Amino acid sequence: MNRKKIVAGNWKMNMTIDQSNDLINELKLISENNVEVKIAPSFTNLYKAVAILKDSEIEVIAQNVHSEMRGAFTGEISTEMLKSIGVNTTIIGHSERRKYFNETDLVLSKKVKASIENSLNVIFCVGEELSEREKDNHFELIRTQITNGLLDLNSDEIKNIIIAYEPVWAIGTGMTANTQQIQEMHEFIRGLIYDKYGHDISSMIRILYGGSVKPNNAKEIFSLDDVDGGLIGGASLNFSDFNSIVNAANG
Ligand code: 13P
Repeated sequence: MNRKKIVAGNWKMNMTIDQSNDLINELKLISENNVEVKIAPSFTNLYKAVAILKDSEIEVIAQNVHSEMRGAFTGEISTEMLKSIGVNTTIIGHSERRKYFNETDLVLSKKVKASIENSLNVIFCVGEELSEREKDNHFELIRTQITNGLLDLNSDEIKNIIIAYEPVWAIGTGMTANTQQIQEMHEFIRGLIYDKYGHDISSMIRILYGGSVKPNNAKEIFSLDDVDGGLIGGASLNFSDFNSIVNAANG
């Protein structure tokens, strides 16, 4: 099946409002053709980002969301708040959320459910620590993360999920997984979707790779059979690198 590639920039906790506006104005120059381009600025920059990109194909997405609709949850942002400013997709389960903010599979599955129930699309991240790979436990770990996070969704709901495989040891380290490691894990993840939802859904679900994707390795990674684009951290923070990566996905 021909799946449209996605290149999504996860800006993490970077960029003041002025820096964000400057970069977004440059990003308007990106010619996407066959690629879906998304950027995930911090919460403080989202509203303005949506306004600047209102006539652009680039989608502005959130880095996180809370599972409750509203109420006494100081510091949190709801699905409804995101939708009210024109944000229709969120990242959930990034390894930094799992690691530094103790977001467990249970917490994440609640966030996924709340998002889907409120028509917010999800980029759901999974990935193993180096220690898990060294113990040869990486496939089981990813199976657990996918099972607990996603597999209680029904067939209609799962269609609104994009999966991102981001091995933790490859994030921000300059050390990408090699092409064999990437392809075999993406194939494994697609297999998990196949086992639960069957052929049609597993062949349409997009699975992104993240972890030190740069202009010089993007093309090779994006050419792998089960890789449908990338979730880009560091290299999404400047126009030239991000533009090169989008071009690499364009074929
Ligand atoms: P880097 O591209 O900086 O390794 O970050 C990847 C990532 O965590 C994207 O979500």
